[in-house]
Amino acid sequence: MLVEVGKASTIPEGEARRFTANGTDVAVVNLGNGHFLGVDDICSHAESSLSEGEVDLEEETVECPRHGSVFDLRSGRPRSLPATLPVRSFPVKVQGDAILIEVED
Ligand code: FES
Repeated sequence: MLVEVGKASTIPEGEARRFTANGTDVAVVNLGNGHFLGVDDICSHAESSLSEGEVDLEEETVECPRHGSVFDLRSGRPRSLPATLPVRSFPVKVQGDAILIEVED
């Protein structure tokens, strides 16, 4: 199901913001040039918000602000410890200024 969650213009390039899509918290990252990616906001390791982490535009990763695991934004897989489990990644579309996220019903 495609859910409209907010405005793309509220996310500066190279940053992430948290949105809720059908009860799921999603960290949406602005990669620039109209490209956005989404992953679970809650880290797979412990209770921490990936939308507050640092984004690496070249690597297309986000670093968990709590213990520093780096997650691949396309696959959701951790590239470094301590996290070993992936977070989910979500297709993000932008129509006009509207962010649309594909989540399960
Ligand atoms: S809470 Fe994210 S790496 Fe520990």
